[in-house]
Amino acid sequence: MKIAVIGSGGREHAICWALAKSPLVSQIICIPGNGGTAHEDKCININPVDCEYAEGLQGIDAVVQTAVFEKADIAVIGPEDPLVAGISDQLWSCGIPVVGPKTKGAALEGSKDLSKIFMKKHGVACAKSETFTNAEEAHTYIDKVGAPIVIKADGLAAGKGVVVAADVKTAHEAVESFMNDKTLGDAGSVVVIEEYLQGVEISILAAVSVTDESASSGKACIKPFVSARDHKRLLDGAKGPNTGGMGAVAPVSDVTDIDLELFNKNILEPTLNGMIAENMDYRGFIFFGLMLTKDGPKLLEYNVRLGDPETQAVLPLMDFDFAAMCRAVIDGSLRDFEFTWKKGFVCAPVAVSGGYPQSYKKGYEISIDNETVSKEGAKIFIAGAVDDEGKLKTSGGRVLCASSFGSTFEQAWASSYKALGAVQFTDMFFRKDIGLPGAAESGNL
Ligand code: AMP
Ligand code: GLY
Repeated sequence: MKIAVIGSGGREHAICWALAKSPLVSQIICIPGNGGTAHEDKCININPVDCEYAEGLQGIDAVVQTAVFEKADIAVIGPEDPLVAGISDQLWSCGIPVVGPKTKGAALEGSKDLSKIFMKKHGVACAKSETFTNAEEAHTYIDKVGAPIVIKADGLAAGKGVVVAADVKTAHEAVESFMNDKTLGDAGSVVVIEEYLQGVEISILAAVSVTDESASSGKACIKPFVSARDHKRLLDGAKGPNTGGMGAVAPVSDVTDIDLELFNKNILEPTLNGMIAENMDYRGFIFFGLMLTKDGPKLLEYNVRLGDPETQAVLPLMDFDFAAMCRAVIDGSLRDFEFTWKKGFVCAPVAVSGGYPQSYKKGYEISIDNETVSKEGAKIFIAGAVDDEGKLKTSGGRVLCASSFGSTFEQAWASSYKALGAVQFTDMFFRKDIGLPGAAESGNL
């Protein structure tokens, strides 16, 4: 099988690495890929801008053309933007099966309003909310319900669309900024104002195979992976600004069997039933962003893709063939596909460019002492770095992560940090507490 993987981050590097291990996979083309996928087994990077056959095409049109011309047998989509823009619909109509939902399913992430409508209609446990298209009405509502309160821009905003407001002044400012000042463009024209939930956060990633056919034969399913946790704040102790993710662990030790049972009953099953009821053709991944509250897990958001950096912590725990699982997602046999997980833990701290998430410099050479990394049994997943004539150079905020397995969490933690210690680049910065007590986002103001 020749597989096209779409994207250029650490998640996509981990996906390529997991696919490469499968005997079913002959070649992986990563479009456009990064400095890690460039050197991954069986993998080559193809950037549509370098391809004559994609000349004059932009965005997802160029990517689709590349997958078609390169004769990909299936495609796996990493990020949400191409999914929301309809890349799966296009690839399927060109005869390429896709792991990644079509636009109707992708709207579960593309619009917070549509996603809340779906949750409420199908009885998914979530925060109470109201949607506003008019700023005056939003201000009046905030004054009526008070703080703490959460203001969310409806559209995709690359992690900048949520303000957890401790006081009404902050909430009013967020409404002004999103709706009147248009700081997020059209993404903030509509806002969802949501009840503030207290608890600790976790991420549950899952594979989904829902089609008309699988629904009528009782085979539609959502199969969860082991639990994971991202650490979004920049600094130790969950302090500092929000980032795209400073490190992940899996599975999460403080998640109980009761939490998982309640998650299945109150979130996963209603989501599956909702997808079936709405005739979604959803074959891909879903990511449940959860708050573990005193009343049980509540859904903060759906993402219609795998998480980054959660994927870099979850995939190394798989004791099954990831490519075979992708095929089962597509052909509707996922329900009978057995997930087995390594018994142990993964810790995956992320190293970022100094200055991130604000401004930072790019182009620094990265040195990696591979002997130490392999002695630790660790894997370096590359995110914001490119291959520049054989040299790995920084090209983004989140540069890489060191993902390490251990039979105890303490072993995984120590090993991942030793591996990260074997990496160097100018102004490199990382959190030292990924997975330790007090490191998790707690939803406390
Ligand atoms: P989202 O993009 O919806 O996951 O929101 C981003 C972050 O905002 C989450 O990871 C939480 O830390 C926080 N958040 C979102 N919704 C709520 C809520 N209802 N209560 C408390 N915190 C929230
Ligand atoms: N780790 C959070 C995300 O992928 O959105």
